[in-house]
Amino acid sequence: SLYPIVLSGGSGTRLWPLSRPHYPKQLLSLASEATMLQATVARSAADHFSPIIVTGEEHRFHIVDQLKAIGVSPAAILLEPERRNTAAAIAFAAESLLATDSDAVMLVMPSDHVILDEGAFHDAIRKGLPAAKAGLIVTFGISPDRPETGYGYIEAAHALGEHPGVHAVECFTEKPDAKTAQAYVAGGQHYWNSGIFLLMARAYLQELERHAPAVAESCRAAMTSAVTDGCFVRPNRDNFIASINISIDHAVMERTNKAAVVPVAMGWSDLGSWDSVWDIGGKDQNGNITKGDVVAIDSHNSLFRSENGPAIAALGVSDLVVVSARDVVLILPRDRAQDVRQIVDVIGASG
Ligand code: GDD
Ligand code: MG
Repeated sequence: SLYPIVLSGGSGTRLWPLSRPHYPKQLLSLASEATMLQATVARSAADHFSPIIVTGEEHRFHIVDQLKAIGVSPAAILLEPERRNTAAAIAFAAESLLATDSDAVMLVMPSDHVILDEGAFHDAIRKGLPAAKAGLIVTFGISPDRPETGYGYIEAAHALGEHPGVHAVECFTEKPDAKTAQAYVAGGQHYWNSGIFLLMARAYLQELERHAPAVAESCRAAMTSAVTDGCFVRPNRDNFIASINISIDHAVMERTNKAAVVPVAMGWSDLGSWDSVWDIGGKDQNGNITKGDVVAIDSHNSLFRSENGPAIAALGVSDLVVVSARDVVLILPRDRAQDVRQIVDVIGASG
C-alpha cells in the first residue's frame, strides 16, 4: 500500500530569525494558520493513510504536538541521530517499511512547500501510482517561470504509453548554474523538480545500492539494530552517521534510468525565503503582509511580522522585510532576502 513519508529535517536558514536550528521553518505558520508540517500531513492524510515522519531527535516533541493538534497520529516517527541528508532519510523510511510490507509504495514529501491546488496534487499522484508500482521513480514536474538555481531540473522525454500522464526522463540536473538554468527555461523541455517522489521502497533501495552503495549500506546496518519506543524509531547511531551526506537528487535522481515525471500545475511553491513568503501571501491594499503588532503608514509591498518580539512601526518605506523575533529584529530589502544566510554566518543562528 501507499505510505506518506514526510521529510522534516531542513534548517531553513533563509527564514531566520523565526526559523532556528531547534525550531526550523516547517514548524512555523508561514503561508496559512497551519504550520508547513501540518499542511503537508493534512494534504496526504486526505487519502486516509497515516504518515511516517522522518526528523531529528531534537524536534520530536514539537512534531508530536503539532500532529496531535490536527488530530493525526503518525504511523511512526523515525529519528535521525544526526542529519545525513535526504538520500539517507528516505533509505531509513524504506528500510523500516520493508520490514513489514515488501510492496510498500512511498509518497515522499518535503515539509516546506505550499500547494494551493490539492485536487491537482491528488490527481497527479493517481496518475503516477501505476508507474511507481511498475518500479519507476516518479517525480512531479512544475513548469518553471524563472531560472531558479536552487531547484532540480527534469528534462521530459516521450510519454509512457502504458502510463497516461507520465513521461520518461531524459536527464535530471540538480541545482544547475545560472547560465544552464536560463537555457533550460528558455528551451521549454524542462520542469522543476517539486521534490515530491512516488516510488516503491524496494525500487529506491535497489537504485541507491547501485548508485550510492555506501549510503544504502549504512542505512541497512543502522536498521538491523533499530530500537522502537512507542511511535519513535531510532536507528543504530554509529551506523547511521557513517552514511555520507548526500541528497536523493545527487545520489539517485541524476544517475538512475528509472526516473519518470508527471507534469502537474498545482500552485506549488517552495517557501525558501522571506521574499517567497511575501510573494504567495495575501496582501492588503498597500501590498503589505502584516502579522502581529504592526503599524505601517505610507508603506508598501513589504512583509512586517512581529512574533514574540517588539511591535513594528514603519513609515514611508517600501519593499522591505521586517521580522521582529524574541531576541532580534531582521531588516532587509525584499530583493536581498536570499542573503539572510550571510547574517546567520556572522552572528550564528542560536536556539
Ligand atoms: N529528515 C530529514 N533529514 N529531512 C531532510 C534532511 C535530512 O537530513 N535534509 C533535508 N530534509 C528535508 C527538508 O526539510 C525538506 O523538506 C526536504 O527534505 C528537501 O530538502 P531541502 O534541503 O529543502 O532541498 P532543496 O530545497 O535544496 O532541494 C530539493 O527540493 C527542491 C524543491 O524544493 C531538491 O529535491 C530539488 O531538486 C527540488 O527542486
Ligand atoms: Mg527546500
